[in-house]
Amino acid sequence: MSALLAKVNKLKDELNHHNYQYYVLDCPEISDSGYDKLLRELQEIEAQYPELVTPDSPTQRVGATPLTEFNSVKHEMPMLSLANAFSDKEFSEFNQRVVDLLIKADVCNSSDIKYAAEPKLDGLAISLLYEKGILVRGATRGDGSTGEDVTQNIRTIETIPLKLLGNKTPSRLEVRGEVIMDKKGFEKLNQVQRKNNEKIFANPRNAAAGSLRQLDSRITATRPLSFFCYGIGIISDDVALPDTHSGIMALLKSWGMRVNPESKVVVGVSGADSYYENLLNKRESLEYEIDGIVYKVDNLAQQKILGFVARAPRWAIARKFPAHEEMTRVLGIDIQVGRTGALTPVARLEPVFVGGVTVSNATLHNQDEIERLDIRVGDTVVIRRAGDVIPQVVNVVLSKREGKPRKFKMPTHCPVCGSLAVRNENEVVTSCSGGLFCEAQGKQAIIHFASRKAMNIDGLGDKLIELLVDEGLIKTSADLYSLTHEQLAGLERMGDKSAAKLLNALSQSKQTSFARFIFALGIHDVGETTAKTLAENFQSLEELELASVDELLSIRDVGPVVANNVMTFFKQKHNREVIDALLDAGIHWPKTSPVSKQAQTLAGKTFVITGTLSDMSRDEAKQALQALGAKVTGSVSKKTDYVVAGESPGSKVDKAQQLGVEILSEAQLKAFL
Ligand code: IVH
Repeated sequence: MSALLAKVNKLKDELNHHNYQYYVLDCPEISDSGYDKLLRELQEIEAQYPELVTPDSPTQRVGATPLTEFNSVKHEMPMLSLANAFSDKEFSEFNQRVVDLLIKADVCNSSDIKYAAEPKLDGLAISLLYEKGILVRGATRGDGSTGEDVTQNIRTIETIPLKLLGNKTPSRLEVRGEVIMDKKGFEKLNQVQRKNNEKIFANPRNAAAGSLRQLDSRITATRPLSFFCYGIGIISDDVALPDTHSGIMALLKSWGMRVNPESKVVVGVSGADSYYENLLNKRESLEYEIDGIVYKVDNLAQQKILGFVARAPRWAIARKFPAHEEMTRVLGIDIQVGRTGALTPVARLEPVFVGGVTVSNATLHNQDEIERLDIRVGDTVVIRRAGDVIPQVVNVVLSKREGKPRKFKMPTHCPVCGSLAVRNENEVVTSCSGGLFCEAQGKQAIIHFASRKAMNIDGLGDKLIELLVDEGLIKTSADLYSLTHEQLAGLERMGDKSAAKLLNALSQSKQTSFARFIFALGIHDVGETTAKTLAENFQSLEELELASVDELLSIRDVGPVVANNVMTFFKQKHNREVIDALLDAGIHWPKTSPVSKQAQTLAGKTFVITGTLSDMSRDEAKQALQALGAKVTGSVSKKTDYVVAGESPGSKVDKAQQLGVEILSEAQLKAFL
């Protein structure tokens, strides 16, 4: 057993070491799969010997039984807040106060104060209590004196060590820091939430707070949270402490705590200013959000002299960056029609400077999003723009709503072409149904029409289509077929030769198949396979155009969304006009017989057709038989069931007679069909 215990301890130490290399030093020594292998090894031993599981085991991060409520935690040392400086001037006033107080106290003879400068992380403050090196409690800041016990949730955050490293750790230590969600993790989480119709988080800070305040830690375990420490609270006096804040941070780092790598000691106002410039430039490229810089007098003796005012230390200040969120008013809600026909509501805003640019529009995505925000024209809203991310409406400031503005409704028709706007069940997007006709979709529709799997028009690429539309030579795909040699040869980078080639390709594309043509129309949700299915089930375009929803739904693989889209597409007069123009231009395809709709009454039977038939060609007879499931071959054998004999049949009939195969006349064949 002791050998096993030693093995378990070795595995734990190794895993803790690799965690530290990865999260704290950002310098992994093994691959992810190498780490997973060690973890699995430990998990397997623990599964066999549950008595060996300890709370600090690296396996214990997956979340525990849900709580009904959080217990409250009284902070032994209050968790303070910070005073803010919004300008250089306010910072230098702060610095001057520090200098004056320290000179007065006779502990400083220079005005060049050393500050520990750190990013001000935009997450939530957390207190971590370690006893004998083991994490025993994690608590939120709450009101500064009482917070909530979120230990179960804290344990799921991989950047928080469950056990301190090294053997010279204090018997009691409270580490303080910020739990954050990085930008990528936040975007991903919201995507998932949106897909599952769950709460959307306004910003990474809210997402981090919401995730940490989950009663079910198994949910917290799925959230991309991480942690940086920025100080200590209580600490037992069994270890000697350095005399600076930066020294304490270095010590915390040696114990396995993650310290922000941007932290730096700077000197005086000029040092602080250049740190500010530097970090502000870096702000958008950081993986996580910061809303400023915290400057802390580095020397702890000096900190002690400076003391506190109200609930904030006099030795620290938060120098804030320009905000990522601002308030403004919604002047109107416009509808934009995208290249795929999606109708997107966009809020027109009173211009506001936020995140470094002036914002006058923000997408509202769709009807559901508008309802979620309950946004109405005239409302005051919070706009957020962080980094390159497009501006978002975070929320409506309801207290500023005046009167009773009407709720916004999506239009019933496309504002560009007037076609019906359709929103299918289970879809969030409302789309224009005038695919072939709508100018907003024009280029995209033509590009699709000409593509390889549709009409396969060789030499007609995206760029050329865009040029043709921009030059006003075509509006719809039907216009392609009236392009002239002069028009094409006159275009930029087109000579006589390429013009002739393209005209030839256009002419060749006229001979197509029914399936390709249906696909080329670009009906929403009708891909290549669906187009094929439709072509197999309808004799002609007219039949498809007139199909009822029930008829469409009776086809295998056609569901209500496709049925509705097909119906609506053909109902649009504009679409019919473009189709007519295409057919007038000479587009045609061989008639196919509807295969799968007919009962396969001749399945398993083999036919041979010989001689000349009077009412149909041999090919037509073949297709008709095949449509009923029969096999049609060229020579008579024992396996042949029937020989169809027309005029002057020849030797095949003799063979059939020899083998005793039944011979059918054309009239008998017709009866079969
Ligand atoms: S020090 C007594 N350092 O800012 C000083 N706080 O406005 C206590 N924060 O509640 C805080 N990054 O949540 C400190 N590097 C940092 C910080 C930081 C973010 C937050 C923290 C605190 C709030 C105070």
